[in-house]
Amino acid sequence: MTTSSSERGVSLGMPELPAPAYPDDVRARLERDAREIIARYPDSRSALLPLLHLVQSEEGHVTRTGMQFCADVLNLTTAEVTAVATFYTMYRRKPSGDYQVGVCTNTLCAVMGGDAIFEELQEHLGVGNGETTDDGKVTLEHIECNAACDFAPVVMVNWEFFDNQTPRSAKRLVDDLRAGRPVEPTRGARLCTFKETARILAGFPDERPGAVEASGSAGPASLVGLRLAKGEAAPARVVHPRGEAPQGESPHDPSPTEHLSSHDAPQDTSASDPAHPAGPIAEEGE
Ligand code: FES
Repeated sequence: MTTSSSERGVSLGMPELPAPAYPDDVRARLERDAREIIARYPDSRSALLPLLHLVQSEEGHVTRTGMQFCADVLNLTTAEVTAVATFYTMYRRKPSGDYQVGVCTNTLCAVMGGDAIFEELQEHLGVGNGETTDDGKVTLEHIECNAACDFAPVVMVNWEFFDNQTPRSAKRLVDDLRAGRPVEPTRGARLCTFKETARILAGFPDERPGAVEASGSAGPASLVGLRLAKGEAAPARVVHPRGEAPQGESPHDPSPTEHLSSHDAPQDTSASDPAHPAGPIAEEGE
């Protein structure tokens, strides 16, 4: 049965109910914060992205109430705000967990074990991509490259780095998060909840101990190229084809401190997890 255009017109023409309002005290507090954010920009509408983070910090996701608030304080239409909020994946459109666990499954992380980590976490947590555990603690997501490829495979929790993960270490990580046990990112400041992260992303001071000093930190693997460029390290070692190392030299003896090269990323990766070895899967009969 088809629907007549007049019937479609009636249903499409139904006015949408107005978004529920924030309680007065919440709205007053958010307006104070919003004024501070808007004052940073010559054109008020430029403040939309941080304001969406601000409303996300209030409810854990961007609600219709939050979008209406942004539209009101920026003198935009709700359609304009919705277009932006639905374009960027950093804005959540539905309630989700305290900890967003993002597994990088871009090319390098994927081949280094990111795909295996994601699959095991799905099974371990009983959730799919973008879904949240029943206890409301963890939302599992695929994420794109975060420019930490030299520490692949990378897992990010609320945008803090957990480098060189394995399926086993990633499962331990989510178990700790769900149980409320403290976890330490590999680098950067201490972990905070998704709402707290959203407030920092809105541009308010990051007052976590070590946040400022840690923000520019890079691990040894990231600095290898720089050191080589400065001539601070010996030229890259030659990796001989299997079985062709000159007499007395082992092809697996990199002496990393003397012969740094881009091959010298931390070795504690999925290759160290015997249950999930890295490398190509052998075809049957090979
Ligand atoms: S591919 Fe994962 S951080 Fe770059």
